[in-house]
Amino acid sequence: MDHVVANSTLGLTLPMQIDHPKISFASKETDFVEWTGDILAVGVTEQDMTKDKNSKFHNTVLEKLDAKLCGLLSEVSCEEDFTGKAGKSVVIRVSGLGPKRVSLIGLGKGPMGPSSFRGLGESVASAAKASRANNVAVALAFSEGLTFESKLATASAIAKGILLGTYEDSRFKSESKKPTLKTVEFFGLGSGPELEKKLKYIEDICSGVILAKELVNAPANVLTPAVLAEEAAKIAATYSDVFTSMILDIDQCKELKMGSYLGVAAASTNPPKFIHLCYKPPNGPVKTKLALVGKGLTFDSGGYNIKTGPGSMKLMKFDMGGSAAVLGAAKALGQIKPPQVEVHFIVAACENMISGTGMRPGDILTASNGKTIEVNNTDAEGRLTLADALVYACNQGVDKIVDLATLTGACIVALGPSIAGIFTPSVELSKEVVAASEIAGEKFWRLPMEESYWDSMKSGVADMVNTGGRHGGSITAALFLKQFVDEKVQWLHIDMVGPVWNDKKKAATGFAISTLVEWVVSNSAS
Ligand code: BES
Ligand code: MN
Ligand code: ZN
Repeated sequence: MDHVVANSTLGLTLPMQIDHPKISFASKETDFVEWTGDILAVGVTEQDMTKDKNSKFHNTVLEKLDAKLCGLLSEVSCEEDFTGKAGKSVVIRVSGLGPKRVSLIGLGKGPMGPSSFRGLGESVASAAKASRANNVAVALAFSEGLTFESKLATASAIAKGILLGTYEDSRFKSESKKPTLKTVEFFGLGSGPELEKKLKYIEDICSGVILAKELVNAPANVLTPAVLAEEAAKIAATYSDVFTSMILDIDQCKELKMGSYLGVAAASTNPPKFIHLCYKPPNGPVKTKLALVGKGLTFDSGGYNIKTGPGSMKLMKFDMGGSAAVLGAAKALGQIKPPQVEVHFIVAACENMISGTGMRPGDILTASNGKTIEVNNTDAEGRLTLADALVYACNQGVDKIVDLATLTGACIVALGPSIAGIFTPSVELSKEVVAASEIAGEKFWRLPMEESYWDSMKSGVADMVNTGGRHGGSITAALFLKQFVDEKVQWLHIDMVGPVWNDKKKAATGFAISTLVEWVVSNSAS
Protein backbone atom coordinates (compact mmCIF):
# COMPACT_ATOMS: atom_id res chain seq x y z
CA MET A 1 0.00 0.00 0.00
CA ASP A 2 3.00 2.27 -0.52
CA HIS A 3 1.26 4.66 -2.86
CA VAL A 4 -1.71 5.11 -0.54
CA VAL A 5 0.78 6.61 1.92
CA ALA A 6 2.27 8.68 -0.88
CA ASN A 7 -1.16 10.11 -1.66
CA SER A 8 -1.69 11.40 1.84
CA THR A 9 1.72 13.06 1.88
CA LEU A 10 1.37 14.74 -1.50
CA GLY A 11 -0.90 17.34 0.04
CA LEU A 12 -2.36 18.29 -3.30
CA THR A 13 -5.99 17.49 -2.78
CA LEU A 14 -7.00 20.72 -1.07
CA PRO A 15 -9.58 22.59 -3.11
CA MET A 16 -8.58 25.98 -4.46
CA GLN A 17 -9.67 29.11 -2.72
CA ILE A 18 -11.83 30.69 -5.38
CA ASP A 19 -12.59 34.40 -5.34
CA HIS A 20 -15.27 34.95 -7.93
CA PRO A 21 -15.56 38.44 -9.33
CA LYS A 22 -18.71 40.14 -8.10
CA ILE A 23 -21.15 40.81 -10.92
CA SER A 24 -23.75 43.59 -10.71
CA PHE A 25 -26.28 45.23 -13.01
CA ALA A 26 -26.19 48.96 -13.60
CA SER A 27 -29.57 50.65 -13.39
CA LYS A 28 -31.27 51.91 -16.53
CA GLU A 29 -30.37 55.52 -15.84
CA THR A 30 -26.60 54.99 -15.74
CA ASP A 31 -24.81 55.43 -19.03
CA PHE A 32 -21.82 53.17 -19.65
CA VAL A 33 -20.03 55.99 -21.45
CA GLU A 34 -19.70 57.71 -18.06
CA TRP A 35 -18.25 54.63 -16.36
CA THR A 36 -14.82 54.85 -14.76
CA GLY A 37 -12.57 51.85 -14.17
CA ASP A 38 -10.02 49.53 -15.77
CA ILE A 39 -11.72 48.06 -18.85
CA LEU A 40 -14.89 48.99 -20.67
CA ALA A 41 -15.72 46.00 -22.87
CA VAL A 42 -18.31 46.34 -25.63
CA GLY A 43 -19.66 43.37 -27.56
CA VAL A 44 -20.17 44.21 -31.25
CA THR A 45 -21.53 42.38 -34.28
CA GLU A 46 -20.11 42.78 -37.80
CA GLN A 47 -23.21 44.82 -38.57
CA ASP A 48 -22.46 47.23 -35.68
CA MET A 49 -18.97 47.83 -37.05
CA THR A 50 -20.10 49.25 -40.39
CA LYS A 51 -19.20 52.91 -40.96
CA ASP A 52 -20.26 55.61 -43.39
CA LYS A 53 -17.88 57.24 -45.87
CA ASN A 54 -16.62 59.66 -43.20
CA SER A 55 -15.63 56.71 -40.98
CA LYS A 56 -18.55 57.39 -38.65
CA PHE A 57 -20.26 54.40 -37.06
CA HIS A 58 -23.87 53.78 -38.10
CA ASN A 59 -24.44 52.24 -34.68
CA THR A 60 -25.49 55.00 -32.28
CA VAL A 61 -23.89 53.42 -29.19
CA LEU A 62 -20.51 53.09 -30.90
CA GLU A 63 -20.82 56.54 -32.40
CA LYS A 64 -21.38 58.04 -28.95
CA LEU A 65 -18.42 56.16 -27.52
CA ASP A 66 -16.24 57.13 -30.46
CA ALA A 67 -17.15 60.79 -29.98
CA LYS A 68 -16.10 60.51 -26.33
CA LEU A 69 -12.79 58.96 -27.43
CA CYS A 70 -12.25 61.70 -30.04
CA GLY A 71 -12.50 59.26 -32.96
CA LEU A 72 -9.92 56.77 -31.62
CA LEU A 73 -12.37 53.89 -31.82
CA SER A 74 -12.97 54.18 -35.55
CA GLU A 75 -9.32 54.96 -36.19
CA VAL A 76 -7.90 51.96 -34.31
CA SER A 77 -10.53 49.53 -35.58
CA CYS A 78 -9.66 50.59 -39.14
CA GLU A 79 -5.90 50.34 -38.55
CA GLU A 80 -6.22 46.89 -37.00
CA ASP A 81 -8.83 45.84 -39.55
CA PHE A 82 -11.23 44.87 -36.78
CA THR A 83 -14.62 44.17 -38.33
CA GLY A 84 -16.42 42.49 -35.40
CA LYS A 85 -15.60 38.92 -36.42
CA ALA A 86 -16.27 36.34 -33.70
CA GLY A 87 -13.21 35.62 -31.60
CA LYS A 88 -11.45 38.87 -32.59
CA SER A 89 -11.08 41.93 -30.40
CA VAL A 90 -9.33 45.25 -30.18
CA VAL A 91 -8.09 47.09 -27.08
CA ILE A 92 -7.41 50.80 -26.85
CA ARG A 93 -5.45 52.35 -23.98
CA VAL A 94 -6.80 55.79 -23.22
CA SER A 95 -5.83 58.36 -20.67
CA GLY A 96 -7.69 61.13 -18.97
CA LEU A 97 -11.07 59.57 -19.68
CA GLY A 98 -13.36 57.33 -17.57
CA PRO A 99 -12.04 53.88 -18.46
CA LYS A 100 -8.31 53.07 -18.74
CA ARG A 101 -8.97 50.70 -21.61
CA VAL A 102 -11.78 50.29 -24.08
CA SER A 103 -12.14 46.92 -25.74
CA LEU A 104 -14.40 45.99 -28.64
CA ILE A 105 -15.14 42.28 -28.71
CA GLY A 106 -16.39 40.70 -31.92
CA LEU A 107 -19.49 38.51 -31.93
CA GLY A 108 -19.57 37.84 -35.68
CA LYS A 109 -22.61 37.95 -37.91
CA GLY A 110 -25.08 35.93 -35.89
CA PRO A 111 -27.37 34.27 -35.20
CA MET A 112 -26.00 34.52 -31.69
CA GLY A 113 -26.79 31.95 -29.05
CA PRO A 114 -25.60 31.28 -25.50
CA SER A 115 -22.25 29.96 -26.70
CA SER A 116 -21.44 33.26 -28.52
CA PHE A 117 -22.20 35.26 -25.37
CA ARG A 118 -20.31 32.83 -23.20
CA GLY A 119 -17.39 33.37 -25.60
CA LEU A 120 -17.78 37.12 -25.10
CA GLY A 121 -17.56 36.59 -21.33
CA GLU A 122 -14.42 34.49 -21.75
CA SER A 123 -12.83 37.23 -23.89
CA VAL A 124 -13.66 39.78 -21.18
CA ALA A 125 -11.99 37.53 -18.61
CA SER A 126 -8.85 37.12 -20.70
CA ALA A 127 -8.67 40.87 -21.40
CA ALA A 128 -8.87 41.41 -17.63
CA LYS A 129 -6.14 38.83 -17.04
CA ALA A 130 -3.87 40.37 -19.68
CA SER A 131 -3.94 43.85 -18.14
CA ARG A 132 -4.32 42.73 -14.49
CA ALA A 133 -7.62 44.63 -14.31
CA ASN A 134 -9.61 44.88 -11.08
CA ASN A 135 -12.87 46.08 -12.53
CA VAL A 136 -14.65 45.78 -15.81
CA ALA A 137 -17.83 47.15 -17.37
CA VAL A 138 -19.61 45.14 -20.05
CA ALA A 139 -22.08 46.48 -22.59
CA LEU A 140 -23.45 45.44 -25.97
CA ALA A 141 -23.66 47.79 -28.93
CA PHE A 142 -27.07 46.34 -29.77
CA SER A 143 -28.79 45.70 -26.45
CA GLU A 144 -31.53 48.30 -26.84
CA GLY A 145 -33.94 46.21 -28.88
CA LEU A 146 -33.57 43.03 -26.81
CA THR A 147 -36.57 41.59 -24.98
CA PHE A 148 -36.42 41.01 -21.24
CA GLU A 149 -36.12 37.25 -21.80
CA SER A 150 -33.21 37.58 -24.17
CA LYS A 151 -31.49 40.06 -21.86
CA LEU A 152 -31.78 37.46 -19.11
CA ALA A 153 -30.32 34.72 -21.30
CA THR A 154 -27.59 37.00 -22.66
CA ALA A 155 -26.52 38.27 -19.24
CA SER A 156 -26.47 34.66 -17.96
CA ALA A 157 -24.24 33.45 -20.76
CA ILE A 158 -21.82 36.39 -20.46
CA ALA A 159 -21.66 35.92 -16.68
CA LYS A 160 -20.90 32.23 -17.13
CA GLY A 161 -18.07 33.05 -19.54
CA ILE A 162 -16.59 35.62 -17.15
CA LEU A 163 -16.80 33.41 -14.05
CA LEU A 164 -15.34 30.37 -15.78
CA GLY A 165 -12.82 32.36 -17.81
CA THR A 166 -11.45 34.04 -14.68
CA TYR A 167 -10.93 30.73 -12.91
CA GLU A 168 -7.55 29.05 -13.32
CA ASP A 169 -6.67 25.74 -11.72
CA SER A 170 -3.31 26.38 -10.08
CA ARG A 171 -3.53 23.74 -7.34
CA PHE A 172 -0.58 21.86 -8.74
CA LYS A 173 1.69 24.81 -9.44
CA SER A 174 4.28 25.93 -6.93
CA GLU A 175 3.70 29.53 -7.92
CA SER A 176 0.67 31.16 -9.44
CA LYS A 177 -0.82 34.55 -10.09
CA LYS A 178 -4.18 35.13 -8.43
CA PRO A 179 -6.92 36.50 -10.66
CA THR A 180 -7.15 40.26 -10.21
CA LEU A 181 -10.71 40.78 -11.43
CA LYS A 182 -12.95 41.79 -8.52
CA THR A 183 -16.02 43.51 -9.96
CA VAL A 184 -17.97 43.40 -13.19
CA GLU A 185 -20.82 45.76 -14.03
CA PHE A 186 -23.32 44.96 -16.79
CA PHE A 187 -24.88 47.84 -18.71
CA GLY A 188 -28.04 47.74 -20.79
CA LEU A 189 -29.01 44.21 -19.83
CA GLY A 190 -31.58 45.19 -17.24
CA SER A 191 -31.48 45.06 -13.46
CA GLY A 192 -33.67 43.93 -10.60
CA PRO A 193 -34.51 40.82 -8.57
CA GLU A 194 -35.15 38.46 -11.48
CA LEU A 195 -31.70 39.11 -12.93
CA GLU A 196 -30.08 38.78 -9.50
CA LYS A 197 -31.82 35.43 -9.03
CA LYS A 198 -30.66 34.21 -12.42
CA LEU A 199 -27.13 35.34 -11.65
CA LYS A 200 -27.12 33.30 -8.44
CA TYR A 201 -28.32 30.29 -10.48
CA ILE A 202 -25.44 30.80 -12.93
CA GLU A 203 -22.96 31.07 -10.03
CA ASP A 204 -24.28 27.78 -8.66
CA ILE A 205 -23.80 26.08 -12.02
CA CYS A 206 -20.30 27.55 -12.33
CA SER A 207 -19.31 26.19 -8.92
CA GLY A 208 -20.31 22.74 -10.22
CA VAL A 209 -18.38 23.26 -13.45
CA ILE A 210 -15.29 24.31 -11.49
CA LEU A 211 -15.53 21.26 -9.23
CA ALA A 212 -15.73 19.03 -12.31
CA LYS A 213 -12.71 20.75 -13.88
CA GLU A 214 -10.71 20.23 -10.69
CA LEU A 215 -11.68 16.56 -10.51
CA VAL A 216 -10.70 15.93 -14.13
CA ASN A 217 -7.47 17.95 -13.91
CA ALA A 218 -6.38 16.06 -10.79
CA PRO A 219 -3.99 13.26 -11.73
CA ALA A 220 -4.62 9.61 -10.91
CA ASN A 221 -2.03 9.58 -8.09
CA VAL A 222 -4.08 12.23 -6.32
CA LEU A 223 -7.62 11.41 -7.39
CA THR A 224 -8.03 7.73 -6.55
CA PRO A 225 -11.48 6.11 -6.42
CA ALA A 226 -11.45 6.65 -2.62
CA VAL A 227 -10.69 10.36 -3.02
CA LEU A 228 -13.45 10.70 -5.63
CA ALA A 229 -15.83 9.05 -3.17
CA GLU A 230 -14.70 11.45 -0.43
CA GLU A 231 -15.39 14.40 -2.72
CA ALA A 232 -18.88 13.03 -3.37
CA ALA A 233 -19.51 12.56 0.34
CA LYS A 234 -18.36 16.15 0.91
CA ILE A 235 -21.02 17.43 -1.50
CA ALA A 236 -23.67 15.46 0.38
CA ALA A 237 -22.41 16.78 3.74
CA THR A 238 -22.32 20.38 2.52
CA TYR A 239 -25.93 20.27 1.26
CA SER A 240 -27.18 17.80 3.84
CA ASP A 241 -30.69 19.32 3.74
CA VAL A 242 -31.22 17.71 0.33
CA PHE A 243 -28.60 14.96 -0.02
CA THR A 244 -27.92 11.55 1.43
CA SER A 245 -24.83 9.62 0.40
CA MET A 246 -23.84 6.02 0.28
CA ILE A 247 -20.38 4.74 -0.61
CA LEU A 248 -20.23 0.99 -1.21
CA ASP A 249 -16.92 -0.79 -0.71
CA ILE A 250 -15.73 -3.85 -2.57
CA ASP A 251 -17.51 -6.33 -0.26
CA GLN A 252 -20.84 -4.55 -0.59
CA CYS A 253 -20.43 -4.55 -4.38
CA LYS A 254 -19.68 -8.28 -4.24
CA GLU A 255 -22.90 -8.80 -2.29
CA LEU A 256 -24.75 -6.97 -5.07
CA LYS A 257 -23.03 -9.34 -7.55
CA MET A 258 -21.43 -6.52 -9.55
CA GLY A 259 -19.09 -8.91 -11.33
CA SER A 260 -18.67 -6.77 -14.41
CA TYR A 261 -17.54 -3.66 -12.50
CA LEU A 262 -15.37 -5.66 -10.09
CA GLY A 263 -13.71 -7.41 -13.04
CA VAL A 264 -12.32 -4.06 -14.14
CA ALA A 265 -11.25 -3.12 -10.61
CA ALA A 266 -9.50 -6.45 -9.98
CA ALA A 267 -5.99 -5.41 -11.04
CA SER A 268 -5.81 -2.28 -8.95
CA THR A 269 -4.17 -1.67 -5.55
CA ASN A 270 -6.44 1.33 -5.02
CA PRO A 271 -9.77 -0.24 -4.10
CA PRO A 272 -12.98 0.53 -6.05
CA LYS A 273 -15.68 2.73 -4.52
CA PHE A 274 -19.29 2.71 -5.67
CA ILE A 275 -20.77 6.16 -5.16
CA HIS A 276 -24.47 6.87 -4.72
CA LEU A 277 -25.80 10.30 -3.75
CA CYS A 278 -29.53 10.91 -3.55
CA TYR A 279 -31.12 14.34 -3.92
CA LYS A 280 -34.59 14.90 -2.54
CA PRO A 281 -36.27 18.32 -2.73
CA PRO A 282 -36.42 20.24 0.56
CA ASN A 283 -40.21 20.09 0.63
CA GLY A 284 -43.22 19.00 -1.35
CA PRO A 285 -43.90 15.82 -3.29
CA VAL A 286 -41.66 14.09 -5.84
CA LYS A 287 -43.18 13.79 -9.32
CA THR A 288 -40.24 12.48 -11.33
CA LYS A 289 -37.28 10.30 -10.40
CA LEU A 290 -34.08 10.72 -12.37
CA ALA A 291 -30.64 9.14 -12.35
CA LEU A 292 -27.34 10.53 -13.57
CA VAL A 293 -24.72 7.83 -14.03
CA GLY A 294 -21.08 8.71 -14.76
CA LYS A 295 -18.12 6.64 -15.91
CA GLY A 296 -15.53 6.97 -13.14
CA LEU A 297 -12.25 5.45 -14.29
CA THR A 298 -9.67 7.43 -12.34
CA PHE A 299 -7.13 5.91 -14.72
CA ASP A 300 -7.40 3.72 -17.81
CA SER A 301 -4.18 1.96 -18.78
CA GLY A 302 -6.16 -0.37 -21.03
CA GLY A 303 -5.41 -3.35 -18.78
CA TYR A 304 -3.80 -6.36 -20.51
CA ASN A 305 -4.94 -4.84 -23.82
CA ILE A 306 -2.61 -2.04 -22.84
CA LYS A 307 -2.83 1.28 -24.63
CA THR A 308 0.12 1.21 -27.02
CA GLY A 309 -0.59 4.00 -29.51
CA PRO A 310 1.67 7.08 -29.29
CA GLY A 311 0.41 9.26 -26.44
CA SER A 312 -2.71 7.16 -26.07
CA MET A 313 -2.33 6.58 -22.32
CA LYS A 314 -1.03 9.88 -21.03
CA LEU A 315 -4.40 11.62 -20.81
CA MET A 316 -6.25 8.74 -19.24
CA LYS A 317 -6.69 10.52 -15.92
CA PHE A 318 -9.60 12.21 -17.72
CA ASP A 319 -11.47 8.91 -17.94
CA MET A 320 -13.59 9.93 -14.95
CA GLY A 321 -14.99 12.93 -16.87
CA GLY A 322 -18.49 11.44 -16.84
CA SER A 323 -18.42 11.09 -13.06
CA ALA A 324 -17.04 14.63 -12.72
CA ALA A 325 -20.02 15.90 -14.72
CA VAL A 326 -22.39 13.96 -12.48
CA LEU A 327 -20.80 15.27 -9.27
CA GLY A 328 -20.51 18.80 -10.66
CA ALA A 329 -24.24 18.71 -11.40
CA ALA A 330 -24.87 17.38 -7.88
CA LYS A 331 -22.98 20.31 -6.36
CA ALA A 332 -24.92 22.82 -8.47
CA LEU A 333 -28.29 21.20 -7.76
CA GLY A 334 -27.51 21.05 -4.04
CA GLN A 335 -27.58 24.85 -4.15
CA ILE A 336 -30.38 25.33 -6.68
CA LYS A 337 -32.67 22.85 -4.88
CA PRO A 338 -35.25 22.21 -7.64
CA PRO A 339 -38.68 21.03 -6.43
CA GLN A 340 -40.58 17.87 -7.40
CA VAL A 341 -37.61 15.84 -8.63
CA GLU A 342 -35.59 13.13 -6.96
CA VAL A 343 -32.15 12.64 -8.50
CA HIS A 344 -29.75 9.75 -8.01
CA PHE A 345 -26.07 10.37 -8.76
CA ILE A 346 -24.26 7.11 -9.40
CA VAL A 347 -20.61 6.33 -10.11
CA ALA A 348 -18.87 2.94 -10.16
CA ALA A 349 -15.38 4.34 -9.56
CA CYS A 350 -12.21 2.31 -10.12
CA GLU A 351 -8.95 2.10 -12.06
CA ASN A 352 -8.17 -0.07 -15.08
CA MET A 353 -4.67 -1.36 -14.28
CA ILE A 354 -2.49 -4.39 -14.90
CA SER A 355 -1.48 -7.03 -12.35
CA GLY A 356 -1.62 -10.74 -11.65
CA THR A 357 -5.08 -10.30 -10.18
CA GLY A 358 -6.41 -8.41 -13.19
CA MET A 359 -8.96 -9.71 -15.69
CA ARG A 360 -7.54 -11.36 -18.78
CA PRO A 361 -8.81 -11.21 -22.34
CA GLY A 362 -11.22 -14.11 -22.64
CA ASP A 363 -12.39 -13.96 -19.03
CA ILE A 364 -16.14 -14.22 -18.56
CA LEU A 365 -17.81 -11.82 -16.11
CA THR A 366 -21.33 -11.94 -14.73
CA ALA A 367 -23.06 -8.57 -14.25
CA SER A 368 -25.56 -7.85 -11.48
CA ASN A 369 -28.54 -8.49 -13.78
CA GLY A 370 -27.21 -12.02 -14.39
CA LYS A 371 -25.98 -11.40 -17.94
CA THR A 372 -22.58 -12.84 -18.86
CA ILE A 373 -19.85 -11.01 -20.76
CA GLU A 374 -16.82 -12.47 -22.50
CA VAL A 375 -14.12 -9.82 -22.21
CA ASN A 376 -12.54 -9.77 -25.66
CA ASN A 377 -10.83 -6.46 -24.90
CA THR A 378 -9.85 -5.27 -21.42
CA ASP A 379 -9.61 -1.71 -22.74
CA ALA A 380 -13.37 -1.57 -23.27
CA GLU A 381 -13.68 -1.28 -19.48
CA GLY A 382 -15.95 1.75 -19.20
CA ARG A 383 -18.99 -0.14 -20.44
CA LEU A 384 -18.23 -2.97 -17.99
CA THR A 385 -18.36 -0.57 -15.05
CA LEU A 386 -21.42 1.21 -16.44
CA ALA A 387 -23.26 -2.11 -16.87
CA ASP A 388 -23.52 -2.62 -13.09
CA ALA A 389 -24.05 1.07 -12.45
CA LEU A 390 -27.03 1.10 -14.87
CA VAL A 391 -28.56 -2.02 -13.28
CA TYR A 392 -28.18 -0.34 -9.88
CA ALA A 393 -29.79 2.87 -11.22
CA CYS A 394 -32.78 0.92 -12.57
CA ASN A 395 -33.18 -0.71 -9.15
CA GLN A 396 -33.73 2.75 -7.63
CA GLY A 397 -37.09 2.87 -9.41
CA VAL A 398 -36.22 5.88 -11.55
CA ASP A 399 -38.22 7.07 -14.59
CA LYS A 400 -35.28 8.34 -16.64
CA ILE A 401 -31.53 7.76 -16.72
CA VAL A 402 -28.82 9.80 -18.39
CA ASP A 403 -25.35 8.28 -18.39
CA LEU A 404 -22.17 10.12 -19.34
CA ALA A 405 -18.87 8.56 -20.30
CA THR A 406 -15.56 9.10 -22.03
CA LEU A 407 -16.40 5.85 -23.72
CA THR A 408 -14.97 5.50 -27.20
CA GLY A 409 -12.19 7.01 -29.28
CA ALA A 410 -14.54 6.38 -32.20
CA CYS A 411 -16.79 9.19 -30.98
CA ILE A 412 -14.00 11.79 -31.48
CA VAL A 413 -13.45 10.38 -34.94
CA ALA A 414 -17.17 10.81 -35.67
CA LEU A 415 -17.89 14.19 -34.04
CA GLY A 416 -14.52 15.85 -33.41
CA PRO A 417 -13.35 17.42 -30.17
CA SER A 418 -16.24 19.69 -29.25
CA ILE A 419 -19.44 17.70 -29.82
CA ALA A 420 -20.72 14.90 -27.62
CA GLY A 421 -22.65 11.94 -29.02
CA ILE A 422 -26.15 11.09 -27.79
CA PHE A 423 -27.56 7.58 -28.03
CA THR A 424 -31.08 6.72 -26.96
CA PRO A 425 -34.08 4.68 -28.06
CA SER A 426 -36.29 7.50 -26.77
CA VAL A 427 -37.05 10.40 -29.15
CA GLU A 428 -38.71 12.20 -26.26
CA LEU A 429 -35.71 12.02 -23.93
CA SER A 430 -33.38 13.03 -26.73
CA LYS A 431 -35.54 16.12 -27.30
CA GLU A 432 -35.44 16.96 -23.59
CA VAL A 433 -31.66 16.75 -23.40
CA VAL A 434 -31.12 18.63 -26.67
CA ALA A 435 -33.45 21.42 -25.45
CA ALA A 436 -31.43 21.60 -22.21
CA SER A 437 -28.16 21.72 -24.14
CA GLU A 438 -29.41 24.62 -26.25
CA ILE A 439 -30.10 26.68 -23.14
CA ALA A 440 -26.72 25.66 -21.75
CA GLY A 441 -24.86 26.44 -24.98
CA GLU A 442 -23.23 22.99 -25.22
CA LYS A 443 -23.08 20.82 -28.34
CA PHE A 444 -24.61 17.36 -28.65
CA TRP A 445 -25.54 15.28 -31.69
CA ARG A 446 -27.79 12.24 -31.74
CA LEU A 447 -26.31 9.13 -33.37
CA PRO A 448 -28.27 6.00 -34.31
CA MET A 449 -28.54 2.84 -32.24
CA GLU A 450 -28.44 0.47 -35.21
CA GLU A 451 -29.67 -2.86 -33.84
CA SER A 452 -28.20 -4.90 -36.70
CA TYR A 453 -24.71 -3.97 -35.45
CA TRP A 454 -25.39 -6.09 -32.36
CA ASP A 455 -24.39 -9.12 -34.48
CA SER A 456 -20.75 -8.24 -33.94
CA MET A 457 -21.26 -8.38 -30.16
CA LYS A 458 -22.30 -12.05 -30.03
CA SER A 459 -20.13 -14.51 -28.12
CA GLY A 460 -19.82 -18.26 -28.69
CA VAL A 461 -19.65 -18.96 -24.97
CA ALA A 462 -21.30 -16.07 -23.10
CA ASP A 463 -24.29 -13.75 -23.63
CA MET A 464 -22.12 -11.16 -25.35
CA VAL A 465 -18.59 -9.92 -25.88
CA ASN A 466 -17.60 -6.43 -24.77
CA THR A 467 -16.34 -5.09 -28.11
CA GLY A 468 -17.50 -5.40 -31.71
CA GLY A 469 -15.48 -4.53 -34.78
CA ARG A 470 -13.64 -1.27 -35.37
CA HIS A 471 -16.47 0.23 -37.36
CA GLY A 472 -19.32 2.01 -35.57
CA GLY A 473 -17.48 1.55 -32.26
CA SER A 474 -19.55 4.17 -30.43
CA ILE A 475 -22.78 2.55 -31.59
CA THR A 476 -21.85 -0.98 -30.49
CA ALA A 477 -20.75 0.49 -27.14
CA ALA A 478 -24.18 2.07 -26.73
CA LEU A 479 -25.91 -1.17 -27.75
CA PHE A 480 -23.85 -2.96 -25.07
CA LEU A 481 -25.05 -0.50 -22.39
CA LYS A 482 -28.65 -1.04 -23.49
CA GLN A 483 -28.42 -4.68 -22.32
CA PHE A 484 -28.27 -3.40 -18.75
CA VAL A 485 -31.18 -0.98 -18.81
CA ASP A 486 -34.70 -1.96 -17.88
CA GLU A 487 -36.95 -1.45 -20.94
CA LYS A 488 -39.50 0.43 -18.82
CA VAL A 489 -36.94 3.12 -18.00
CA GLN A 490 -36.21 5.94 -20.46
CA TRP A 491 -32.46 6.00 -20.98
CA LEU A 492 -29.97 8.21 -22.80
CA HIS A 493 -26.23 7.69 -23.14
CA ILE A 494 -23.77 10.54 -23.72
CA ASP A 495 -20.32 9.80 -25.13
CA MET A 496 -18.39 12.92 -24.13
CA VAL A 497 -14.90 11.73 -25.00
CA GLY A 498 -14.22 14.75 -27.25
CA PRO A 499 -15.50 17.72 -25.27
CA VAL A 500 -14.23 16.70 -21.84
CA TRP A 501 -10.73 18.04 -22.49
CA ASN A 502 -9.38 21.19 -24.13
CA ASP A 503 -6.15 20.27 -25.92
CA LYS A 504 -5.15 23.87 -26.51
CA LYS A 505 -5.56 24.90 -22.88
CA LYS A 506 -4.32 21.48 -21.67
CA ALA A 507 -7.14 21.46 -19.15
CA ALA A 508 -10.57 20.06 -18.42
CA THR A 509 -13.59 21.89 -19.82
CA GLY A 510 -16.27 21.08 -17.25
CA PHE A 511 -18.47 19.90 -20.12
CA ALA A 512 -22.09 18.75 -19.63
CA ILE A 513 -22.78 20.13 -16.15
CA SER A 514 -24.81 23.06 -17.45
CA THR A 515 -26.85 20.78 -19.69
CA LEU A 516 -27.48 18.28 -16.89
CA VAL A 517 -28.62 21.01 -14.53
CA GLU A 518 -30.96 22.49 -17.17
CA TRP A 519 -32.33 19.01 -17.86
CA VAL A 520 -33.04 18.28 -14.19
CA VAL A 521 -34.59 21.73 -13.74
CA SER A 522 -36.81 21.20 -16.82
CA ASN A 523 -38.02 17.94 -15.28
CA SER A 524 -38.72 19.72 -12.04
CA ALA A 525 -40.97 22.31 -13.67
CA SER A 526 -43.14 19.87 -15.65
N1 BES B 1 -11.33 5.62 -22.10
C1 BES B 1 -11.30 5.05 -23.38
C2 BES B 1 -11.90 5.97 -24.43
C3 BES B 1 -10.90 6.82 -25.12
C4 BES B 1 -10.19 6.31 -26.18
C5 BES B 1 -10.70 8.13 -24.75
C6 BES B 1 -9.29 7.12 -26.85
C7 BES B 1 -9.79 8.93 -25.42
C8 BES B 1 -9.10 8.43 -26.48
C9 BES B 1 -12.08 3.74 -23.40
O1 BES B 1 -12.04 3.03 -22.21
C10 BES B 1 -11.43 2.88 -24.42
O2 BES B 1 -10.31 2.51 -24.22
N2 BES B 1 -12.15 2.60 -25.50
C11 BES B 1 -11.64 1.82 -26.55
C12 BES B 1 -12.70 0.81 -26.94
C13 BES B 1 -12.19 -0.22 -27.88
C14 BES B 1 -11.25 -1.15 -27.18
C15 BES B 1 -13.36 -0.96 -28.44
C16 BES B 1 -11.32 2.75 -27.73
O3 BES B 1 -12.12 3.63 -28.03
O4 BES B 1 -10.26 2.60 -28.32
MN1 MN C 1 -10.29 1.78 -22.09
ZN1 ZN D 1 -11.77 4.12 -20.50
